Amino acid sequence: MNRPVRIEVGSGERAYPVWVGSGLLAAEDLIEPLLRGRQLLLVSNETVMPLFGERLDWLRRRREVAIEVLPDGEAHKTLETAARLFAALARLGAQRDAAVLALGGGVVSDVAGFAASVWMRGIDFLVLPTTLLAQVDAAIGGKTAVNLPEGKNLVGSFHPPRAVCCDLDTLRTLPEREYRAGLAEVVKYAAIRDAEFFTWLETSAEALLAREASALAEAVLRSVSHKAEIVTRDERERGERALLNFGHTFGHALEAAGGYRELLHGEAVAIGMRWAARLSERLGLASREHTLRLDRLLGRLGLGLSAPSHSPEVLSAHLRLDKKARSGRLRFILWRGIGEAFLAEGVDVAAVEAVLGEAPGTL
Ligand code: NAD
Ligand code: GLY
Repeated sequence: MNRPVRIEVGSGERAYPVWVGSGLLAAEDLIEPLLRGRQLLLVSNETVMPLFGERLDWLRRRREVAIEVLPDGEAHKTLETAARLFAALARLGAQRDAAVLALGGGVVSDVAGFAASVWMRGIDFLVLPTTLLAQVDAAIGGKTAVNLPEGKNLVGSFHPPRAVCCDLDTLRTLPEREYRAGLAEVVKYAAIRDAEFFTWLETSAEALLAREASALAEAVLRSVSHKAEIVTRDERERGERALLNFGHTFGHALEAAGGYRELLHGEAVAIGMRWAARLSERLGLASREHTLRLDRLLGRLGLGLSAPSHSPEVLSAHLRLDKKARSGRLRFILWRGIGEAFLAEGVDVAAVEAVLGEAPGTL
């Protein structure tokens, strides 16, 4: 990809660009104009900083830069880490025009974004996402969060970034498992609203697995465009944004049942999407042909080939606790087929439990 592509998210004061391209970390001319004040807190982690930190050396030429390198892992997406970032901002003497810049995956951007959203009631936040999942999902849409012992993402805010720069080159070093987990979110956009994109993914699966530059650029661009369109219309998840949870209600239940140690988020979502398709079929909403196409595509991407065996009762209990269950009624994102997802309220519990019962053996 020779020139970066700009995709606009949001409108009015909350609008921001997402740039997608190669070599963006070193693109001083692109990033520099986005910084308003002199002070900058760069937040990364112990895995990502050694890989890409040097590419941002130019930042120091004109700014006062503090760097916080966090330990790696979801276990550090906490209030304690946010407090560490507040202390760093205080040492920096960060004023209202200071910025927080996140370099890393969704864990880094969620906690750094949260810190930026509450420091002096909100300062600029820029994201340089380095995982596929963060480029196509976590970095876009303004959701920030930290976890509590009581649950994931329980404390957070909506704080749109000032800009997001997706440097496709960073995806080269991503471990295979993380890369494939990110592909699950790419498939999700096609599954919920773009049948043509789904067909493209079917023809491009091998190129994507090989991380061929043009296929990767196309997949990221199309995914970012879908997320941008949805969050522009529904930032606060009052309607359409809920479609992004296709496969997630089941996925969250699987993640929670496994204590968040068995599966990566995208892996759980892949199984969840297969279950959502089966549930749609069982309820007479979609035909088997669509389930099979989803199964085949995910299978070729090495996703959801087996599910950890938790009993339907345990999974069902987690489903009821999910934040998408309102007033005891189960809410799911289901589909009428590829590209046609919708929010279904009051889904029949027996049908859900039947799907949970059959799934591990048939995936
Ligand atoms: P992650 O941030 O844990 O990154 C995955 C792993 O890859 C980590 O070990 C990380 O250090 C490493 N890594 C990152 N970039 C790398 C690179 N270029 N090369 C080599 N290794 C690299 O996980 P993730 O999947 O990016 O994000 C998951 C988090 O995102 C979860 O906390 C989830 O709740 C959150 N999330 C937020 C949103 C949102 O809208 N805010 C949406 C989806 C997910
Ligand atoms: N990842 C779901 C959302 O951003 O709403």
